[in-house]
Amino acid sequence: MSTGTAFLKNTWYVAAWSHEIAANGMLARTITRAPLLFWRDGAGEVVALDDRCCHRAAPLSKGRREGENIRCMYHGLLFDKTGKCVEIPSQEFIPPAAKVRAYPVVERFKWVWIWMGDADKADPSLIPDTHTVDDAQWRGTPGYLHYDANYLLITDNLLDFSHLSYVHETTLGGSAKYAGIRPKVTRNGRSVRVERWLIDDEPAPFLRKLKTWPGNVDRWNIYDVVLPGVLLMDSGSAPTGTGAPQGDRVDAAQFFGCQAVTPETERTSHYFFQQSHGFAIDDSSVTENLRQSVLAGFQEDMDIILAQQHILDLAPDAPMLAMRMDTALASFRTMVEKAIAEERAACE
Ligand code: FES
Ligand SMILES: [Fe+2]
Repeated sequence: MSTGTAFLKNTWYVAAWSHEIAANGMLARTITRAPLLFWRDGAGEVVALDDRCCHRAAPLSKGRREGENIRCMYHGLLFDKTGKCVEIPSQEFIPPAAKVRAYPVVERFKWVWIWMGDADKADPSLIPDTHTVDDAQWRGTPGYLHYDANYLLITDNLLDFSHLSYVHETTLGGSAKYAGIRPKVTRNGRSVRVERWLIDDEPAPFLRKLKTWPGNVDRWNIYDVVLPGVLLMDSGSAPTGTGAPQGDRVDAAQFFGCQAVTPETERTSHYFFQQSHGFAIDDSSVTENLRQSVLAGFQEDMDIILAQQHILDLAPDAPMLAMRMDTALASFRTMVEKAIAEERAACE
């Protein structure tokens, strides 16, 4: 299974949490191997420019804000928010090539999305619906982790929840029965849907700290992983026998998870997430407890994925063995490879 060397470009990537780009601040972040500088113009709109001066490649993030412009603090070129150079010390003529690339950006529900491909194809209606990140009916805490691993190892993890019983035995997962379930997997154009139900079992360990029921519960995880790596997940638990599988969510603990995996380089990734609860929304102890459980769980994911990446680095071409549980991740990898191949073919 290759970890790939190309990235999808004509797609929206999550680049940052809104709060990471302060009104007068600058954020340097690399996405798909492109060094980028994020800042806000006078109206508060996010601007994304190549973080590489067109003169001699100094990062503009080491420069300074001058009103609506950015000055490179190596030899003093000044750039406006469209990336055009508007001043060069010691010469009046500004060559047309004196510019840095500006990228389409959309800020929506506390996430800043960037389009790394052809600007004329950047259609905001293609951005997945992550409204639960910023919605009065839901409560959650913004999360971010930097990963020293290829982004597809992270989406692999998200597409196969059999790992919940083992990686998250005492946190998010619990019963080994969970790994024994065969999820329903379907492909929908640019996403893979996974539906998993565990009927009549104990609540997951993390959930026992958030809500109690007298008996067993039915647990569900129903989610889409959308290109290039955005997870949208409806999950929860409700008392067994009250009809959750049929759609009656009585006395349920419901969650909605939004997660985005954004490649930084072939070998490193950004991971943005918010797990929101839709019950007890005014109980801040539930929000805090959930935050801690999610972080503990995601640290467990990182431990196993970094260890896996280390072994892969030693022998990248050694074979893996496909299992039935790989259905969803194999589908998603095929989808990514196909989309990248189509993009490349369109450029030739
Ligand atoms: S590298 Fe930016 S002005 Fe020279
Ligand atoms: Fe996990």
